[in-house]
Amino acid sequence: MIHLEPREAASEWLSLVDTTPAMVFDPQVCRAQWAGLSQALPGVDLFYAVKSNPYPELLSTLAAEGAQFDVASAAEIRMLESVGVGASRMIHTHPIKTDAEIERAVASGVTTFVVDNVDELWKLIPYRHAIRVMLRLSFIAPDAPIDLSKKFGAMPKDALSILDVANDSGIRVDGLCFHVGSQAASAYTHAEALAHCLKLCEAILAEELPPIQRIDIGGGFPAHYLNDPIDLMAFCAPIREVLQTVPDGMQIMAEPGRVISAPAMALVCKVVGRARRGDAWWFYLDDGVYGAQSGRLFDGMQYRMTVYTSAEEIAPCVFAGPTCDSIDELGRFPQFPVLNMNDVVVMHEMGAYTLASATHFNGIAPPKVVTRTLPDSVPGIERA
Ligand SMILES: Cc1ncc(COP(=O)(O)O)c(C=O)c1O
Repeated sequence: MIHLEPREAASEWLSLVDTTPAMVFDPQVCRAQWAGLSQALPGVDLFYAVKSNPYPELLSTLAAEGAQFDVASAAEIRMLESVGVGASRMIHTHPIKTDAEIERAVASGVTTFVVDNVDELWKLIPYRHAIRVMLRLSFIAPDAPIDLSKKFGAMPKDALSILDVANDSGIRVDGLCFHVGSQAASAYTHAEALAHCLKLCEAILAEELPPIQRIDIGGGFPAHYLNDPIDLMAFCAPIREVLQTVPDGMQIMAEPGRVISAPAMALVCKVVGRARRGDAWWFYLDDGVYGAQSGRLFDGMQYRMTVYTSAEEIAPCVFAGPTCDSIDELGRFPQFPVLNMNDVVVMHEMGAYTLASATHFNGIAPPKVVTRTLPDSVPGIERA
């Protein structure tokens, strides 16, 4: 989805940034997303998934809202500590960890860990008196483009035998968790998986294994890319229905990443080179897949763009990033205005899995972040 605007209108973005490429972070949008998801999932304890965007001001914005955090490494723990968040507000949810990672996380004071197999349980035995563990199960959302269910998660049918081993090893498994896949198009799999876990809790009790006290429904809540704008309240309705059946005393948790961080940042780029190659015009932007747009390759994402240009001629065109690698291509369009040097391209909902995986390939630095209010013209943005 591309909006075209006159080149002069780019001033509302260029006045926010000293240089391009730049990421504009709006804390109000971040807070609004947090509040929106909290309202859509009443009674669910939210743990922001730091992996989606560990930008310090974003972390401190959420910390000030009372957020808790989901971490995957000791480095993420340190990032949170550096903005004043203590380990009591963190859970460590990486199902596969090195011994050194576990040791560092326990030393920092993290007490919740995740496993999805018995080898991972063995690693936790030395710390069993200091920690609580959640068993990750695999549920596949057919409508989530980023499938995590093959790489992680025990098959639900194997849950009882893993819990048996944990019990015999003196490891306290008091939680079940899952991640249905990122950028899910609906919450039906979240709801079905939660219902499945609730049934499993009964089977666990019937086997006289220690009771499950918490279920973590993971992430997967979507951002507004080329899909329709997201109504979080409507999206979460299937989950709310199952929440009504949760027994008293059972804690329900979630680990949202993308839905919180994506809308809070926009990327401002410029055309820094152009060339006619055969029939097509190539436009080279000052950010590409080695910078903030790796999600195009890693996740198959396409982003909403606003292009500010006074161009009138139309031709086939290719957008590319600034590096020397041929894979650094951003999109092909059969009919597009022939952009001029310094025309401005703004990409929306760019906060998730962008800066977090940006590189310095070719010595080109990822976009700098500035904290500003996003212009009112950005469609579908709410502020708190
Ligand atoms: C364990 C875990 N929790 C939470 C998340 C965040 O997911 P999302 O950004 O889809 O909300 C991820 C993403 O990969 C994850 O692996």
